[in-house]
Amino acid sequence: MSKMEVKTSLLDNMIGVGDMVLLEPLAEESFLENLKKRFDHNEIYTYIGSVVISVNPYRSLPIYSPEKVEEYRNRNFYELSPHIFSLADEAYRSLRDQDKDQCILITGESGAGKTEASKLVMSYVAAVCGKGAEVNQVKEQLLQSNPVLEAFGNAKTVRNDNSSRFGKYMDIEFDFKGDPLGGVISNYLLEKSRVVKQPRGERNFHVFYQLLSGAPDDMLKKLNLERDFSKYNYLGLDSATVNGVDDAANFRTVRNAMQIVGFMDDETQSVLEVVSAVLKLGNIEFKPESRVNGLDESRVKDKNELKEICELIGIEQTVLERAFSFRTVEAKQEKVSTTLNVAQAYYARDALAKNLYSRLFSWLVNRINESIKAQTKTRKKVMGVLDIYGFEIFEVGHIVFEQFIINYCNEKLQQIFIELTLREEQEEYIREGIEWTHIDYFNNAIICDLIENNTNGILAMLDEECLRPGTVSDETFLEKLNQICAGHEHFESRMSKNSKFLNDHTLPHNCFRIQHYAGKVLYRVEGFVDKNNDLLYRDLSQAMWKASHNLVKSLFPDGNPTKINLKRPPTAGFQFKASVATLMKNLLTKNPNYIRCIKPNDKKAAHIFTDSLVCHQVRYLGLMENVRVRRAGYAFRQTYEPCLERYKMLCKQTWPHWRGPAREGVEVLLKDLQIPREEYSYGRSKIFIRNPRTLFHLEDQRKQRLQDLAALIQKIYRGWKCRTRFLLMKRSQITVAAWYRRYAQQKKYQRIKSSAIVVQSYIRGWKARRELKRLKEEARRKHAVAVIWAYWLGLKVRRDYRKFFRANAGKKIYEFTIQRIMQKYFLELKNKMPSMSPIDKTWPARPYLFLEATHTELRRIFHLWRCKKYRDLFTEQKKAIYDEKLEASEMFKDKKALYPSSVGQPFQGDYLEISKNPKYQKLSTLVEEKIILADIVNKINRANGKATPRIFLLTKNSFLLADQKSGQIKSSVPLSDLTSASMSAQTDGFFAVRVKEGTPAAAKGDFLLSSDRLIEIVTKLYRTCLSSTKEKINIEISDEFLVQFKQDKVCVKFVQGSPKNGSVAACKRKNNRLLEVAVPSP
Ligand SMILES: Nc1ncnc2c1ncn2[C@@H]1O[C@H](COP(=O)(O)OP(=O)(O)OP(=O)(O)O)[C@@H](O)[C@H]1O
Ligand SMILES: [Mg+2]
Repeated sequence: MSKMEVKTSLLDNMIGVGDMVLLEPLAEESFLENLKKRFDHNEIYTYIGSVVISVNPYRSLPIYSPEKVEEYRNRNFYELSPHIFSLADEAYRSLRDQDKDQCILITGESGAGKTEASKLVMSYVAAVCGKGAEVNQVKEQLLQSNPVLEAFGNAKTVRNDNSSRFGKYMDIEFDFKGDPLGGVISNYLLEKSRVVKQPRGERNFHVFYQLLSGAPDDMLKKLNLERDFSKYNYLGLDSATVNGVDDAANFRTVRNAMQIVGFMDDETQSVLEVVSAVLKLGNIEFKPESRVNGLDESRVKDKNELKEICELIGIEQTVLERAFSFRTVEAKQEKVSTTLNVAQAYYARDALAKNLYSRLFSWLVNRINESIKAQTKTRKKVMGVLDIYGFEIFEVGHIVFEQFIINYCNEKLQQIFIELTLREEQEEYIREGIEWTHIDYFNNAIICDLIENNTNGILAMLDEECLRPGTVSDETFLEKLNQICAGHEHFESRMSKNSKFLNDHTLPHNCFRIQHYAGKVLYRVEGFVDKNNDLLYRDLSQAMWKASHNLVKSLFPDGNPTKINLKRPPTAGFQFKASVATLMKNLLTKNPNYIRCIKPNDKKAAHIFTDSLVCHQVRYLGLMENVRVRRAGYAFRQTYEPCLERYKMLCKQTWPHWRGPAREGVEVLLKDLQIPREEYSYGRSKIFIRNPRTLFHLEDQRKQRLQDLAALIQKIYRGWKCRTRFLLMKRSQITVAAWYRRYAQQKKYQRIKSSAIVVQSYIRGWKARRELKRLKEEARRKHAVAVIWAYWLGLKVRRDYRKFFRANAGKKIYEFTIQRIMQKYFLELKNKMPSMSPIDKTWPARPYLFLEATHTELRRIFHLWRCKKYRDLFTEQKKAIYDEKLEASEMFKDKKALYPSSVGQPFQGDYLEISKNPKYQKLSTLVEEKIILADIVNKINRANGKATPRIFLLTKNSFLLADQKSGQIKSSVPLSDLTSASMSAQTDGFFAVRVKEGTPAAAKGDFLLSSDRLIEIVTKLYRTCLSSTKEKINIEISDEFLVQFKQDKVCVKFVQGSPKNGSVAACKRKNNRLLEVAVPSP
């Protein structure tokens, strides 16, 4: 690390404690609480010393990015917050730099995240180790071996959707530079029973589903398969698909991975053929067939399926069929053949399927190994990654043979864990020269011995039972156990001689119980013997060996009759024990790194932390034990340099720099802090602190000191900042002031200068004005003198010459000229005078403009005078006639259309000359008074509107109507009885004369008359009435008026007549109330 980099520590920003070793107080509750707290804050990793505890988050966290890889690369283990990368980095670096082989042991129960952890470690190492085309190919092959093995060895279980159903140990090999060369994979105990039967809610191995959903149609056809899962007895149906898993896509991934790992196309094809054969084996069914000897012999029900299988793997159908019906037992030279009943046939079928699949799986592992094998013979450095199934304690009575084996393996792992941890601890103490204090811990070697002891271990007895002649069953095995192991302090059984368990009802009769290091586990013996035997009838292996299918043949070398081995094949227990022993031996040579995976809940769900479940795991993973061992001597250790670097601020001598060796610095520091001597020890390169409390005390002090230092730095910085600012402001102030002064002086100078100029200019102005005044005065005087002299001269001259001028000659000439003009004007006017007719409009033109007003006035006067002269010519009679005409004009002008035609006619009054005409002599005698008007008018008949001529007479006091012929008076009405006269506004001559109501004349009603001389008649009637009665009668001009006829009031209405009616107005009685007069249109 460069000097400039910021040094951090695990202790920075810690949530809970990052290292359980520092837990105070150390108890199960605080342990769980710490894990939970960290889990809730997305800190899924926690250390116990160098062991990493990983809690499955069940969701993807952003903590595995390439940036994170860079962050953890080449950093010390305790420098950053706990992470699996830190462990991987530590392991890889000590492998590369210190030449120490490493192994990474990942344990935990199903679903705890072991496989994910192993992949993370591998990908981290791949990311940080060397680069280059060749190296990259090796890395790719190593990484791609995972999907292949997962397809064939993983399955969905109730606990994990991608549960590894085999144990895996992988050695990754590196060269001296740390570049990967290749690898070796070992597999342990594939759970092959899954091939033929899966528990509820679980699936068979992924590959079956991947093949059926992902293979193209032609491939399926070739393999004689159908896509439908339900067609196959071996595929549990209740959970054929897994949420979020795309089997078809995974199939492509797996094929791609196989290609990268180095499988040839025909090899892949062979593998898929074997997988198909296994799948189809499940569909073979048997039926019983009675034999002569009374025994049932099984027969294959549907030969078609058998035929297809045989075709697939190239076996003669009869050979396989026979192998399902007979079993040959060979002993020395003898060969005994017995028939199989239906149950045995099914057993044989399933055994074949399981064997075929598990052998295929082992073959795959070997094939991958062949591909990823390191190509050089040089010495290699090795990093082993062990992903092995965890300890199983669950469900009473459910624990069976496989779990027993698994627990045994875990027991062994715990043993080497303790051994190695202690050894490492001890080695460190020795290395550091610290006195070794004895650590009290539980050694589980005694439990391992109970299981694996060659003479009286449980496995050895199981083998013995399996090999023993006579009837062998699980019960006989349990009996044997009861006899031999009863005395063992970790073995418990109901039937054992030890009376202690006789009444223990939690311990059923068909079970035994072992007190493992992690807790007591109950095992049901059912199936132990059978599974240990792992029997495949020789007839079947021989049949398989006969196959023409190369892969199948190679899977069954034991079927080769020439190499017949009468010895029984090793039992499953024995094999496992041997492989575990090899593994342990292998691991012991390496530097161990532990990842302990913990499953936080049973629901495969994020954010849930079930205390009881985790507590259980913490117990059986022996984590508390782990912490205790780690803390037995000294809880915390650290090399001197980082320690001094971290705490140097706590002591004056070491702060800020310690010049001497780091160790001495730490010594000075601790002494200064007065930490009790028994709390720490000085190793060669490390300081060892016994109690976490001391460390926390140091941390607290450091925190406090850091705060103080921060305050100090802050104080100094603030002071510096303020001072700098002050100085800057001061400097600025001086500059500003200088500039201002200069500016002010400039201003002042300019002001004075301009004032001086003003004063100067005023003085100059004043002087100039004074001079000007003087000069003007002088000039005025000169001028005055001249004027006075000139006037004086003029006066003198006028006096002398007055007698020679006529002073007012101009005025006289003017007046004379005007006089002449006027004279001429009047004379001309006299000669051009217009006629005396008042209607003559002529008048001579005006000669001079200035005479306009006079000229107009003269014209007016002349006209008035001319009119007066004209009027003077009128007689009295004519005057009366004009009076009448004037009256008529006032009454009718612009009111009645008949009027204009009357203007030109003189009003003669007596048209009939009654007094002269002998015809009317009688009438003339009757009328004594002077006749004002006499004329023939038409009286309108009220009934029909017809006109009858009548003589109309108007005298001074009355008006009369008389017969035209006889001159007999028909009506006589005094003028005082009249009220009004009505007529239309048209050209007609109709008019009504109204009579006052109540008068004698009224009895006859109003008169409706018609005359061409209407204007004259009505005018005269009006004037006479006025002069005789002094009352005006009413003149009503309207196109519609009412007339009283006796009792009736009749409306007289004037309408425009059509032209065909001629130019005479016609009257017509329309109805009782209406008299219509059609007037010719104008
Ligand atoms: N670090 C992680 N980040 C995110 N998810 C994880 C992590 N570890 C585990 N998981 C989730 O938990 C599931 C189970 O993990 P994994 O298969 O590694 O368990 P396992 O311990 O190998 O179980 P088994 O013993 O059954 O094989 C994974 O499929 C993944 O969804
Ligand atoms: Mg796994």
